[in-house]
Amino acid sequence: DWNMPDYVSEAVARIREQVGDEEVILGLSGGVDSSVAAALIHRAIGDQLTCVFVDNGLLRLNEAEQVMQTFARSLGVKVIHVDASDKFLGDLAGVTDPEQKRKIIGREFVEVFQAEAQKLPRAKWLAQGTIYPDVIESAGAKTGKAHAIKSHHNVGGLPETLNLKLLEPLRELFKDEVRELGIALGLPHDMVYRHPFPGPGLGVRILGEVKREYAEILRQADAIFIDELRAADWYDKTSQAFAVFLPVRSVGVMGDGRTYEYVVALRAVQTQDFMTAHWAELPHSLLGKISNRIINEVRGVNRVVYDISGKPPATIEWE
Ligand code: XMP
Repeated sequence: DWNMPDYVSEAVARIREQVGDEEVILGLSGGVDSSVAAALIHRAIGDQLTCVFVDNGLLRLNEAEQVMQTFARSLGVKVIHVDASDKFLGDLAGVTDPEQKRKIIGREFVEVFQAEAQKLPRAKWLAQGTIYPDVIESAGAKTGKAHAIKSHHNVGGLPETLNLKLLEPLRELFKDEVRELGIALGLPHDMVYRHPFPGPGLGVRILGEVKREYAEILRQADAIFIDELRAADWYDKTSQAFAVFLPVRSVGVMGDGRTYEYVVALRAVQTQDFMTAHWAELPHSLLGKISNRIINEVRGVNRVVYDISGKPPATIEWE
């Protein structure tokens, strides 16, 4: 029988016993799993935990500020904020292939994280927000059962060469239990119930070559989309919703002038397991409002389209 307060104190005791007086390092992405892991471990061992938050230049609007606000300022967690956006965007210049982009972003993350870990020689443990479904999935991958169409690079994908012991306090939990635990630990509702966000971030939502200019346009369009979904009470009725930047220009009119600007696609899906998904039947009036706001407020965009493809045959992400 699942009782949250008991679970928290048992988990805290277990972590204290495991770790003793040693130090722990954790890659904080701002996603649900690493956030709950960080909050739980911090509850157990306080300043023996150091989190590393890597800004890869492919995060959503204000994401870094929100993570620092929640963890560093509200909860008092030690967080090292690394702005590595120049490094990531520099290495992505000229690269258009989606899998190549994923590889570069994954590799960069490992390099940046490793460099930070080396500055913390007292850390003996690497904490990760691995949850039960990840454990099953990677067991499947080893026996060849997984059929991932896209390589996945999460904060979890750190090499064994770090020579750290693994601390994975969420290994036995399902996603809904992780969320409940996050609430019990005082994390904000919006963080704990946030839609999933891929490890490569906006890197796979900017089709083809990633440029800082495109990322800035996409961040603004995506923020408007998500704001309006929340305001209309549609956010929690969708499993994942986001904007995609299409590096295609089309003709428009503004006043007496002709414009020639980029296209933003909106994607919103409903799914149980993310293996199959339906496009969300958002009200036309809501789509109209979002489209007007994006076109009026985001410079460089004159056309918004809505993706009405199911998975399969389309995937949820466009890359
Ligand atoms: P697709 O696009 O394959 O996505 O239908 C299924 C789910 O996986 C997420 N996704 C990723 N997550 N790294 C991640 O951590 C990735 O490279 C990646 N690619 C897709 C996607 O957002 C959706 O939730």
